[in-house]
Amino acid sequence: MRTNLEKEKNRFSGAVINEMRIKLPSLSVNESVARSVVAAFCAQLDPSACEVADIKCAVSEAVTNCIVHAYKDSVGIIYITVKLCEGRTVRVEIRDRGRGIENVRLARQPLYTTDAENERSGMGFTVMESFCDRVRVNSQCKKGTTVTLYKLLKNRE
Ligand SMILES: Nc1ncnc2c1ncn2[C@@H]1O[C@H](COP(=O)(O)OP(=O)(O)O)[C@@H](O)[C@H]1O
Ligand SMILES: [Mg+2]
Repeated sequence: MRTNLEKEKNRFSGAVINEMRIKLPSLSVNESVARSVVAAFCAQLDPSACEVADIKCAVSEAVTNCIVHAYKDSVGIIYITVKLCEGRTVRVEIRDRGRGIENVRLARQPLYTTDAENERSGMGFTVMESFCDRVRVNSQCKKGTTVTLYKLLKNRE
C-alpha cells in the first residue's frame, strides 16, 4: 500500500495533460499580465478562489524577481511555461537569462535581499514557498535562473 507521502510525491511528477508557453519582455507592466494569463490557463482545472490567489501571488513574486534582479539594468525575455499535470498539479516554470544567483540557499532565506536600497523586503522566495507546495530554484551566474512552482490543487466536490 502506498503511503500518503509517496502519493503526494508522485503528484509532483504526474504526466502533462495540457501546456502553455509564453514569453514576455521584462517590463514591469508584464508582471500583472503574467499572473493573469497563468491564472486564466489554470481555470480549466476549476481551482478554488484561494488556490488561484496563491498561484497568482507566487507567479507575481517570481516574475518581479526577473524584472528587478535578473535584468536589473536592461530588458530581457522572461520565459513562462505552465503545465497542468495528472493529479491536479500545476507546474509553473519562470525562466530568465539574466545575471543569475550566486548562492541560492542564501537567497531563499527570509529577509535576504541584495537590493535593500530599493526597499525590497527579501521575502519573495518565502512568499512563493508559503503559497506553493514546492519551489525549485536552479541558477547559474551570468546565465540565468529557473524557478519552478508546484501547486497541488484540492479535489473539487
Ligand atoms: N531571477 C533572479 N535573478 C537574479 N537574482 C535573483 C532572482 N530572483 C531572486 N534573486 C536574488 O535573490 C534575492 C532574494 O529574492 P526575494 O526573496 O524575492 O527578495 P527580494 O526580491 O525582496 O530581494 C534577491 O535580492 C536577489 O539577489
Ligand atoms: Mg523578490
